[in-house]
Amino acid sequence: MAFTLDEIVPWGRSYEEYREMFALSEGDLAERILGCADGPASFNAGLTSRGGAVVSVDPLYRFSCGEIRTRIDQVFDTVLSETRKNAHEFVWKTIPSVESLGQTRMDAMNAFLEDYPRGRKDGRYLDLSLPELPFRTGEFGLALCSHYLFLYSPHLSLDFHLRSIRELRRVAREIRVFPLLELGAVWSRHLDPVVESLSEEGYRIAIEPVPYEFQRGGNQMMIIR
Ligand SMILES: C[S@@+](CC[C@H](N)C(=O)[O-])C[C@H]1O[C@@H](n2cnc3c(N)ncnc32)[C@H](O)[C@@H]1O
Repeated sequence: MAFTLDEIVPWGRSYEEYREMFALSEGDLAERILGCADGPASFNAGLTSRGGAVVSVDPLYRFSCGEIRTRIDQVFDTVLSETRKNAHEFVWKTIPSVESLGQTRMDAMNAFLEDYPRGRKDGRYLDLSLPELPFRTGEFGLALCSHYLFLYSPHLSLDFHLRSIRELRRVAREIRVFPLLELGAVWSRHLDPVVESLSEEGYRIAIEPVPYEFQRGGNQMMIIR
């Protein structure tokens, strides 16, 4: 049985992983960035400490630091045991083992938890959910969405994907989504219909390789302009 999860879990990647997943250049990092579904990732903490401008949105941010930590502790063993059972679906190069995956993710999530109280006060972590966002049209230069759209295709409909991408594109000049695989390391069932529908509506869509691959075959992002 392929990698499966009953629900969308809080699981966070690092600033360095975001840079690779989205092939972010110095110019990209100088944009005002929207991190959508950032959860307990440490991208916001990392970019803010380097002087960047970033706002993260996720329904997880309705919870306190202590509540998020408890939730991470609750899902941690399940995610690692699903990964162990399905180890062939992943590339064990930069992250050489399940144990080091646990450590890498925990380091990123701890960096997030350390930054969260300050960032919440500063309005960098907002309790908001796709498919509707209360931002002004064109408020951001770049919107990033990691490990939510496409990955959770079994949980999220095609219509939800279309509405979410249109909304992200309304608030940001450019969107990047990674990965394009769903759980189980197969191409998202929504990928072709999303490309077809949005192209017909006049969006410019490109699928480009990136220097990051952990899910086997998951080394491409979608850019929507
Ligand atoms: C697997 S985590 C990915 C976290 C981070 N982007 C990363 O790659 O490390 C998926 C996140 O999607 C968030 N999420 C669930 N429903 C959402 C919605 N409607 N809008 C935005 N984010 C949502 C969850 O709360 C969770 O934090």
